[in-house]
Amino acid sequence: MAINRIGVLTSGGDCAGLNAVIRAVTKRAIAEYGWEVYGINDGSHGLLDRPPRYQELTLPDFTGTVLRMGGTILGSVNSGDPFDFPMSDGSRQDRSQEIINGYDQLGLDALIAIGGDGSLAILRKLAQQGGWNLVGVPKTIDNDVDLTENAVGYLTAVDVATEALDRLQPTAASHNRVMILEVMGRDHGHIAINAGIAGGADVILIPEIPYDLDSLCAKLDDIRRSEGRTFALVVVAEGVKPDNDYVETGIGQYLCDRLSEKAGAECRVTVLGHTQRGGVPTPRDRLFGSAFGVHAVDLIAAGKFDRMVAWSSRDCIDVPLADVVGHSQPVDPNGAVVRTARGLGICLGD
Ligand code: F6P
Repeated sequence: MAINRIGVLTSGGDCAGLNAVIRAVTKRAIAEYGWEVYGINDGSHGLLDRPPRYQELTLPDFTGTVLRMGGTILGSVNSGDPFDFPMSDGSRQDRSQEIINGYDQLGLDALIAIGGDGSLAILRKLAQQGGWNLVGVPKTIDNDVDLTENAVGYLTAVDVATEALDRLQPTAASHNRVMILEVMGRDHGHIAINAGIAGGADVILIPEIPYDLDSLCAKLDDIRRSEGRTFALVVVAEGVKPDNDYVETGIGQYLCDRLSEKAGAECRVTVLGHTQRGGVPTPRDRLFGSAFGVHAVDLIAAGKFDRMVAWSSRDCIDVPLADVVGHSQPVDPNGAVVRTARGLGICLGD
């Protein structure tokens, strides 16, 4: 089919590198294929409003600044499933057909959706219902989208978390304290274990490996005995569940309280939160974002839809969206990263 106009949107939690994707999509679509590019505002919610909210993207929009910017120039949402939309009166409604009508009003021939596994699943459902030509681009600081080695935004988040450890280590040493760094990772511990290794952590806790508080206390004792130091760095992913499965505070504060009590250590906690999502994208996130954007446009030109671009073995490839949605990619407990952590003597809590 002839393509004249494509849409692009960002969906789910923002991250660094999204603008690199939007820029690459626009450049490739206009310069190589002569298409029009509509950037849809606030994910699929831009298609709910009447008139639909969008901005036409042109080459002068990308003269240099946007590539370097965190966030997304299009806006994003990570709530309000259109199939189960929360209404102001407290009821829930299926508003998927309104979104499909909004898409039709814009006269789009294809859509590039930049999202994590949750967003991509919803957008694929919309595409099936509306007969859209959809291509997905993986993004999430959690790096848990399946079938790609990297999602946009992840490496910037690892950078932020590693820098935090670089800043915590000297103050831990100066005051003989146990510094606990809680990083993001709702379900999986990719940021925690990668930043933890890079930042010289003594303990790294991830949702994929159940922990025991006694192991942490034993590790702190061991550091005292073998290295003569009474300070330590602990990294914990926010998705780690406490040993009693109940926590009123975040897991970082919970560990801080329990370790102070049980190991007699002076502990402090830092919760990095959304600092991991914002900021200037690292070169690799700009590179992945650019490669994904170009490849997504080329897929549309080739008439290949219902696919997601992905990174694998130093190459930009594409995989069926059907194989991506509905599951995620945890840290492999037997993989190279975990083996490296264990090889360094890092306590993983087990
Ligand atoms: O999925 C990305 C992510 O940053 C998670 O790591 C985190 O749990 C969640 O989003 C935070 O979402 P929100 O921005 O709604 O607080």
